[in-house]
Parts: sequence; C-alpha cells; structure tokens
Amino acid sequence: MDLSNRTMLVTGGTGGIGKETARGLARLGARVLIVGRDPGRARSAAAELADDTGNPRIEAFTADVTSLAGLHALAARPTGPIDVLVNNVGAMTARRETTADGVERMFAAHVLAPFALTHLLLDRMPPGARVVNVTGGIPGGPIDPANLQAERRFLGWTFSQYNHTKTALMAMSHRLAERLRPHGVRVNVVYPGHGHTPMNRAVTVRAFPYAYRPVAPLVKLLAPVLFGDLARPARSSVHLAASPEVADTTGTYFGQDRRPRSWPESVLDERARDAVWALCERLSGCRSTV
Ligand SMILES: NC(=O)c1ccc[n+]([C@@H]2O[C@H](COP(=O)([O-])OP(=O)(O)OC[C@H]3O[C@@H](n4cnc5c(N)ncnc54)[C@H](OP(=O)(O)O)[C@@H]3O)[C@@H](O)[C@H]2O)c1
Repeated sequence: MDLSNRTMLVTGGTGGIGKETARGLARLGARVLIVGRDPGRARSAAAELADDTGNPRIEAFTADVTSLAGLHALAARPTGPIDVLVNNVGAMTARRETTADGVERMFAAHVLAPFALTHLLLDRMPPGARVVNVTGGIPGGPIDPANLQAERRFLGWTFSQYNHTKTALMAMSHRLAERLRPHGVRVNVVYPGHGHTPMNRAVTVRAFPYAYRPVAPLVKLLAPVLFGDLARPARSSVHLAASPEVADTTGTYFGQDRRPRSWPESVLDERARDAVWALCERLSGCRSTV
C-alpha cells in the first residue's frame, strides 16, 4: 500500500492509541500530522515516530481540541489537502467540567471536536477522503437529548457520561456520513479495544461499576501486561484510515476486529440524531453546506 501522496491528521497522535495509529500510518508512508496539547511532547513524539519508522514526513501541531478557538487555529495550519482525519482524542473526568467555551468536557472532546474539525477541514478534503471517529467505553445506551452535556445529571465515575458522549459521537457520525456522501467523503466509527494508556491509568477503582470493584485492583495490576501493546488497539483506526478494502465504505461502525458491527438502536433513533446534530451546529457555529 503506497500512501506517499496522502496526508493524514491524527488528533491525540502524540500519545496513547493515537500515537500508535500515527506510527502505523507513518510506516505505510503517509505524511502524518499529529496533534497534542503540549509542544514539547508533540515535537518529541514526531521525532520518535520519524526515527522509528524511517518516515521523515511527520509534523507536530499543538492544539486543545476541546476549545473551538484551538480547533479553528489547528484547521488553518497544515498545508495542502487532508486525505484522512482521525478524530481520536478522548477525555474522562471524575466530575462535570466545562471547557473555556462552557461546553461539558467529554461532549466537547468526543462529539463537538470531531464535528467541528471535520467541517473546518471539509473544503480541503478531496473526494475519497476519510474521517475516522474513535468511540470507546460501552457505547450503545440510550441518548438523552436533554442531558447531552450532563446538565441535569452527571454520573462520571460510573462511566455514564463517557459512554453517553461516545454514543452521541456515533449518532453524530452516522448523520455526518449521510451528509458528506454527496461530497465523496467517507465517515466511519471504530472501536479500538482496550489499551493501557494515560487516560485509563488515571482511572481509580471507584470508577468501576459496583459489581466489578472487588476485582478492579487485580485488573489494574494486570493491565500493563494484558493491554500494554498499543499497536493492537490502533489497528482498527489504521485499517479504516488506510486500507483499500474500505475505500468506498461510509456510515459504518467497525469493531476492534476491524469487522462491521450493527449500529446500536439508540444511534438509529432519528430524534436523538437530530438533537445531537442540532447541538453540535449550535455550539460550533458550523453548518454542512453539502
Ligand atoms: N485506552 C483504552 O482502553 C480505550 C478503549 C476504547 C476506546 N478508547 C478511545 O481511544 C481514543 C484514544 O484513547 P487513549 O486511551 O489513547 O487516550 P489518551 O491516553 O488520553 O490519549 C492521549 C493523547 O491525546 C492527546 N490529548 C488529550 N486531550 C487532548 C486535547 N484536549 N487536545 C489535543 N490532544 C489531546 C494527548 O496529548 P497531550 O497530553 O500531549 O495533549 C495524547 O496525544 C479515545 O477516543 C478513547 O476514548 C480508548
């Protein structure tokens, strides 16, 4: 697979699963743009990836993708067309937090950032471009249009808002795939599978659902051994970003085995999709023109 004429942007490409995704794409020869919040970490990740893969075309960008100003600045910086956008950044907070824009942080990271960044880059995405949105947790529960930003109820450490926003991401992505179909841009969702990363290293035993708490310390102890190889969870994003097998696939949800999965019922609920879409438009000020 020769990807030397492709430019691929990976948010959260400076650490965790995103860095392994960037590594996989760099090995395939693409020009890879990685994004993280810290300039030093971003530069050293780019140097490490270039050194390890022998691909010098790794560029580091600094932006907080939970900030709309950050997204606007980021979208303006890379040169040339963007062939692939991997919306990989995730967030997990113990209590309800809001961003500088006043948006609930997990909604901002998981739903608003992929929505806004795709719209901001759309003019530079040629037909055949791909958007890969990374879901996680236990997605598929009900979408509550009145509580998308946990404004009524926040159940953070039981993963509820994390799962809720990842399900909302899937609903947004399903609609985005429909909207961008005429433009020739493919939009798919991937579930990477578990990886022992900075995000879940920060999760305490209290974050586990009650039934799992007795075994949680053991799970945390074994996690580096069982889930330390981050190339494994990165495989599904690399596949969706680069494989010719899925060049024409859009509007599909892929599991960690890189096979299509059925969309959860809640994602197919038109009312929920409308609510998520309308909120993204309102908060970001971005509108689909295609
Ligand atoms: N880990 C798992 O077991 C697992 C399982 C299923 C799904 N997922 C999903 O897979 C994705 C990657 O997960 P991960 O565990 O690798 O996450 P992670 O460890 O939190 O990822 C860290 C990367 O994201 C960057 N980052 C974090 N917040 C950012 C922000 N606001 N703006 C820009 N960059 C930001 C970090 O860079 P800086 O710190 O330098 O900013 C770093 O590059 C997430 O969407 C997650 O929900 C993960």
